[in-house]
Amino acid sequence: MLNRRLAGLGTTIFAEMSALALTTGSVNLGQGFPDTDGPPEIAAAAAAAIMAGRGNQYPPGPGIPELRQAVAAHQKRFYGLDVDPGTEVLVTAGATEAIAATLIALLEPGDEAIAFEPYYDSYAACVAMAGATRVPVTLRPPGFRPDISALRAAITPRTRVILLNTPHNPTGAVFSRAELTGIAALACEHDLLVVSDEVYEHLVFDGEHVPIASLPGMRERTVTISSAAKTFSFTGWKVGWVTATPELVSAVRTVKQFLTYVTGGPFQYAVAEALALPDAYYAGISRDLRAKRDVLCAGLAAVGFGVYQPAGTYFVTTDIRPLGETDGMDFCRRLPDRAGVVAIPSSVFYDTVAAGRSQVRFAFCKKEEVLREAVERLTRYRA
Ligand SMILES: Cc1ncc(COP(=O)(O)O)c(C=O)c1O
Repeated sequence: MLNRRLAGLGTTIFAEMSALALTTGSVNLGQGFPDTDGPPEIAAAAAAAIMAGRGNQYPPGPGIPELRQAVAAHQKRFYGLDVDPGTEVLVTAGATEAIAATLIALLEPGDEAIAFEPYYDSYAACVAMAGATRVPVTLRPPGFRPDISALRAAITPRTRVILLNTPHNPTGAVFSRAELTGIAALACEHDLLVVSDEVYEHLVFDGEHVPIASLPGMRERTVTISSAAKTFSFTGWKVGWVTATPELVSAVRTVKQFLTYVTGGPFQYAVAEALALPDAYYAGISRDLRAKRDVLCAGLAAVGFGVYQPAGTYFVTTDIRPLGETDGMDFCRRLPDRAGVVAIPSSVFYDTVAAGRSQVRFAFCKKEEVLREAVERLTRYRA
């Protein structure tokens, strides 16, 4: 039934692995959501908004003014970027809708969109929904650094968009200022748009997050996307946003209007408050997550996995070849039953499947005791 453009794109692995986690009683380090909610005062703000009747009816299409102002203030506070809350911010149903609306708005059938693989699974689907073609540029271990000459070679007269994601899911790579400068130079040289998914912007442990829109020549050609999900540990609220020039925002808004029209009103009030949380909050989430990263990475290395230590995000990519395994898909399908742990084969994030065959992704956005339990189970399994 599914149209040909989307054929083969339904990533069923998350559903399959979550089902396996349930039937086997496994520790689920598959999907990337925290097992602890975000700040209680922000949850209370959402509840208070509902009870006060704020946002219970359709909020304004671009988002409530309070949230658009908060997003603009956030861009200024953390990156020195001037964003007009009136014309340069659009609130979306999570980053997921922002990605879909942006790609559908900007891509024509026949256009090419370059994305660094492995990539977040919605990119392929949204490029396909736009009738465009995805062109992968592979990030390779151990560092998963963007190869600027490979990017240059991937650009053709049909290229319209470079789809960027830093901090990067699933590898945890945080692109450096120099790497982003290289990407920006190519975007300017070839007059390309950049769609920059920065949902993990505050989950950086080593290095710094640099929004590509802050680099020379990029402000007018970048659509920056982020969301409340990861920064505030409320992945179920689905409040995201786009910042870009008025022309780009208006294009994305036209599509958003017909996808969801508007987005969870009361949550917008709460996220506006969350964005204004003090620096200590932002420092705290990355510090806590860094500690979790360290627990899981050390544990996995002790079990014998090859560990590519991430500089950001919720995820660590491992190599199973040191365990005498070669196929991540096969390994992950066996793991729940044998070890009581769920992980995701990274091959599902690649077009060039062979490049990711032996890679397996674990999420560490879980309570420390959960991570320790997973490591203990893996240790017993390998003993
Ligand atoms: C790279 C990336 N972009 C976007 C999203 C989706 O964000 P949201 O929950 O705000 O839709 C995720 C969630 O896992 C992600 O990893």
